[in-house]
Amino acid sequence: MTKVLIATDKPFAPAAVDSIRTVVEGAGYELVLLESYTDKADLLAAVADVDAMIIRSDKATREVIEAAKKLKVIVRAGAGYDNIDLEACTENGVVAMNTPGQNSNAVAELVFGMMVFLARKGFNGSAGVELRGKKIGIHAYGNVGRYVGEIAKGFGMEVYAFDPFVAKKTIEADGVKVLDSVEELYSTCNYVSLHIPANDKTKNSINFDLLNKMPKGGVLVNTARKEVIDEAGLIQLMDARKDFAYISDIAPDCKEEIEAKFQGRFFFTPKKMGAQTAEANINAGIAGANQIVNCIKNGDETYRVNK
Ligand code: 3PG
Repeated sequence: MTKVLIATDKPFAPAAVDSIRTVVEGAGYELVLLESYTDKADLLAAVADVDAMIIRSDKATREVIEAAKKLKVIVRAGAGYDNIDLEACTENGVVAMNTPGQNSNAVAELVFGMMVFLARKGFNGSAGVELRGKKIGIHAYGNVGRYVGEIAKGFGMEVYAFDPFVAKKTIEADGVKVLDSVEELYSTCNYVSLHIPANDKTKNSINFDLLNKMPKGGVLVNTARKEVIDEAGLIQLMDARKDFAYISDIAPDCKEEIEAKFQGRFFFTPKKMGAQTAEANINAGIAGANQIVNCIKNGDETYRVNK
């Protein structure tokens, strides 16, 4: 019988697992579950006899792909697939997919949760600031960026974006002002919200020079990936500029070094929480399950991300 594994270090909401089960068993397949695993050996054992798998930020390394001898499809229930070794998938005849857009609203809502928490000084009782009238720059106008723009307008913020891969008129149609360079985005906006993927071009690209262009009181919000930040540059900037704040949904490698030092203008969520809502889990989980069934039954490779 065709076996589909859900392997999630950070588990889906139970309702999402139920929804995935309905799709998988409805197709006549068996669902197996590996949640909250702490040992890579457990993942390697679980993948040994499965035909398909759904993961989140779980690392699908070459070792994992090669241990999954029967694997045909791997779906990253989410947007960023930097955790999958795509080359290993291609070499082993495995289709790798993502589920773009399915968890985006959840991530966008967390951007504002973190911004309000910072603006209101962690609810410590002292006077904070408001978001209304402030300028927010959306760095990459994809599925999450679009929701961020929509919510920012509700807060009464001025919304700007930079994305060389999206047509200017598409962004402008949403009532968002387009800036022509990344430097202009950072020098214009009080808040910059990152939505770029982590790849060879973007890793370490958010550096001292770029961040230093932000106006006084600038805030960088990262719900994307820690790898895009040049952490040495970030520390240098936060040392030099006591007005600058960094809030992140992904703990930086330098967290120990900066947590106490930059208290009040740096925090991170305990575990990446952007996509951790029942709705996002259900949407991405069902999409992933349907993509697996359609791929195995009908050869449908929509959303394939490897060659
Ligand atoms: C994504 O790329 O979709 C997000 O980073 C969500 O990641 P998660 O599924 O690990 O929460």
